[in-house]
Amino acid sequence: MAFYGIFFFYIIFWTAVVSPTPILNRGYIPKTNNIDFTIEKVTLAPDGFTRQLSTVNGQFPGPTIEVNKGDRILMKIRNKLGESTAMHAHGMLQRGTPWFDGVPWMAQCVIPDDYEFTYNFTVADQVGTHWYHAHETMQYVDGVFGALIIHDPDDPFKSEYDEEIIVMLNDYHHTNAQILLKQFLTPESHGEEPVPDNGLINGKNNFDCSKAPPGSKCVDNAGLAKFEFVKDKKYRLRIINTSAFSAFFFSIDKHDMEVIEADGLYTKRNKIHRLPINVAQRYSVIVTANQPVDNYIMRSEFQKTINLPNIKAIVHYEGAPDDPEPKDNPWSDSLTEYVDLDHKTLQPLEEEKIPESTKKFEFKIDFHKNSTGVVKAFLNNSSYIPDINFPTLDKIFKKKSFNETSANAYIFDKDGEVVDMYFINSDDGEHPFHIHGYQFWVLGTGNGDKVDENELNTHNPIKRDTATIPASGWIAIRFVSDNPGAWGIHCHMICYRFIPFLFIILFFFDKFTNIFFLYFHFIFVLRVAFGIWSFDTVGHTSRRSAKNATSGRMDQIM
Ligand code: C2O
Repeated sequence: MAFYGIFFFYIIFWTAVVSPTPILNRGYIPKTNNIDFTIEKVTLAPDGFTRQLSTVNGQFPGPTIEVNKGDRILMKIRNKLGESTAMHAHGMLQRGTPWFDGVPWMAQCVIPDDYEFTYNFTVADQVGTHWYHAHETMQYVDGVFGALIIHDPDDPFKSEYDEEIIVMLNDYHHTNAQILLKQFLTPESHGEEPVPDNGLINGKNNFDCSKAPPGSKCVDNAGLAKFEFVKDKKYRLRIINTSAFSAFFFSIDKHDMEVIEADGLYTKRNKIHRLPINVAQRYSVIVTANQPVDNYIMRSEFQKTINLPNIKAIVHYEGAPDDPEPKDNPWSDSLTEYVDLDHKTLQPLEEEKIPESTKKFEFKIDFHKNSTGVVKAFLNNSSYIPDINFPTLDKIFKKKSFNETSANAYIFDKDGEVVDMYFINSDDGEHPFHIHGYQFWVLGTGNGDKVDENELNTHNPIKRDTATIPASGWIAIRFVSDNPGAWGIHCHMICYRFIPFLFIILFFFDKFTNIFFLYFHFIFVLRVAFGIWSFDTVGHTSRRSAKNATSGRMDQIM
């Protein structure tokens, strides 16, 4: 016990005292925000149906993290889940701190049950609307997520809104997501994703309990989320799609919206009626309370062939009577009328001259059954398998090679390489894919299996961290490889992390000359030396001695 006490004292000491050095060198005097999260299972009924959720501090969704540009976030995770976990701050570039990216077996070992771990990173150059979520198994689908907002003292739109509102949209399952995952990973599922039971706005919605299985604890009319508007005030809505699978059209009846931010980057004002938002994407829109004082429906409509009603919330103007069921007044114009968002109409606020590419990759994505009959995702015919005994970053530090093809590793050893990636998706479903550690320019998307290079926009493309690869189509992106680390690229539809898509290493040694190197090494050397934990089955971590620790890889446990 004493040993573990000293061990964790060291981790905390190094985290708190040593690691702030680089940011100070860059001229910031950051404010440190201490976030204290306990991850635990709690029984709740967000939509009236009682079930056990995995929560952050007992709340669903988890508490919002709000900081200012330049700040430091010290996010302590106390794991009381009964299973291992890891936390990812989605949208944070983790420049200089790739080991705090929260991806198990890529950036770190998991945090075992009953352990604490502190993520320590700055948001030096970043602003905007982001979120945090567990990156281990299906935990975020069961509730381990929340909003992460970085306020910008130099916000160019600051004078154009009076208040901010966070709106989190998600699809919602009544069955524990680990059970859904198990079903998904059987030959019988044929790779069909689980169908949600409901959808939520800020963790609320009604549910018709007659649809609940007999014997469940369920009450009708649990209540909708309610947003208070004051006539003529302007609101910045920060919209985050925290779904497992579902893309939505988001709108407020009778109210226009003007997009000003996508994934943390400002855009030119773009007036729309409905906002398409895919899994893990974020947008800010400005909405003016310019309608007669009344109650209006805020709605989030499932985009796919999911046969569920619109997810609703209430916009209540000050002075209007309370109305739990305002009348429906949805926008009725069809999507082809171009009042909704299109990548081509979405432009960055500041024009940016984008560099010419120096390296190009073409990736073919397809899904087919492997030898056990389970549908898996393949990238250029290789399905990624994490090595659950040897995290990627640690391998890099120890100069181990990546010769297994299933590592799907692409190594960039030149700082400043301008990389074009073409993803060609032969699946008949679209995939919202996310790159860790980077924001990329979206040069274009299209149908078919060939990138139309004449169609690419290299003039003023939008930059973001999560974009949709169309069904049976392609996307072309570009980024500058300048952030050393081991960074995943994956489809954010949660099950596909388990039939993984791909992971990519972007790394160059010469940038790692600071003390972080030692810090990182220190933790892993100790962990490996003392065999503090190893995996035995999905989501369960056991502490055993190094002698007993079996080696295993993800494919053996799934
Ligand atoms: Cu939202 Cu791999 O992340």
